[in-house]
Amino acid sequence: MARPSDLQAPRGTRDFYPEDLRLRSWLFAHFREVSRRFGFEEVDAPVVEHAELFTRKAGEEIVEQLYHWEMHDRHLALRPEMTPSIARMVMARAGALRLPLRWFTVTQNWRYERMTRGRKREHFQWNMDVWGEPGVGAEAELLAAIFALLERVGLGGGQVRIQLNSRALLEETLRAGVLRERPEAFEPLCVIVDKLAKIGADAVVEQLRDPAGAVRLSADEARDVVGLLGVTGLDDAAAAAPPGSHAVAELRRLFELLAAYGVADRVDFDASVVRGLAYYTGVVFEAYDADRKLRAVCGGGRYDRLLETLGGPRIPAVGFGFGDVVIAELLADHGLLPALARGLDDVVCALGEAQRPAAIALAQRLRASGRSVELVLGDTRPKRVLADADKAGAARVWLLGPDEAARGVVRVRELATGAERDEALS
Ligand code: HAM
Repeated sequence: MARPSDLQAPRGTRDFYPEDLRLRSWLFAHFREVSRRFGFEEVDAPVVEHAELFTRKAGEEIVEQLYHWEMHDRHLALRPEMTPSIARMVMARAGALRLPLRWFTVTQNWRYERMTRGRKREHFQWNMDVWGEPGVGAEAELLAAIFALLERVGLGGGQVRIQLNSRALLEETLRAGVLRERPEAFEPLCVIVDKLAKIGADAVVEQLRDPAGAVRLSADEARDVVGLLGVTGLDDAAAAAPPGSHAVAELRRLFELLAAYGVADRVDFDASVVRGLAYYTGVVFEAYDADRKLRAVCGGGRYDRLLETLGGPRIPAVGFGFGDVVIAELLADHGLLPALARGLDDVVCALGEAQRPAAIALAQRLRASGRSVELVLGDTRPKRVLADADKAGAARVWLLGPDEAARGVVRVRELATGAERDEALS
């Protein structure tokens, strides 16, 4: 027999009761509508993939959090994110796809997280990715789409800001300096410095110095790297970058484009944003609530070399993942979670078994016209039926008793007004 704990959803996972699913569907409908308006097409992939698709050696949390198992000589995993699966799909048709392509997904992802507010072990993510476009015009479209979503759900008034940086900027500076001899240390370095806000500067310096680690800087070098992350203005970053920096020019161009979308005032340059995933190569960004009470609402960036690392051709790519959990917390905090009715239109009830065939015919006719119709199956006492219909938010109740049936009519009650009338049955 199952233990009581086995009968609960595993920690960090969720059951979606009707009211929860209504909310989820509402959010997903907004994800899909924004994607549609930006000209993106929806794709999907299996939730189970070969584990090798996700295992990378840069020390990323996401790899340590993988749900994985061996089965029939296969090493399989639940996807922790969508990007590698999308890369796999692009690679399989690389020669045949018209670039740039714009794909979006709304999928469930699994990560064995240490749980805190806004972090679960399964979450849904909306991803939008552009493949085959090297210019920051793609980044600008994606950031505009994020703001479009925020506006649709009532968070268009500056409650969420985007912090943005370029890994290329950091890479240019480090390759001209401390990583001149060891460019391969850049990815693990990013994974470490991404933890700055979480573990603090001293711990980051420690990890960057670790003689057994992949980066192995001296204490001074490690402190210099942390110093670079403290730069807040783009002008200061430009001053610290090598002369003629391509990354700085791209960032300036991106801010110009964001101004054209009317969203530049909600985007900040922040050199401490590097992201914890190894594959990013260029612009990286994260969206946060303005009070910084919650974890990132979404995050993304450019990953021009991912396809190559998987053995495919070099195709530039950029995208973001936007989770369902943090946004729901934020909407709740702002009192913006919508009260979503069930959407039931009619309740049809035969008061006696003899009237059931006529009630079925009526329900089917209403359903065929597109209405949402509940046919009462059990207790047909009118008082109970009316109370239940009212609670379910139905507009009308159709009662069919022996008297009505004899007269070829049905009694219709409008629940909003209580008005009743007879209507012909056919
Ligand atoms: P990520 O930053 O790991 O990026 O996740 C993106 C978003 O998914 C987060 O900002 C958060 O909203 C949500 N999320 C992630 N993990 C959890 C969790 N355990 N519980 C609740 N929500 C979570 C990526 O996954 C990249 N693949 C995004 C991307 C797409 N980059 C380029 N294209």
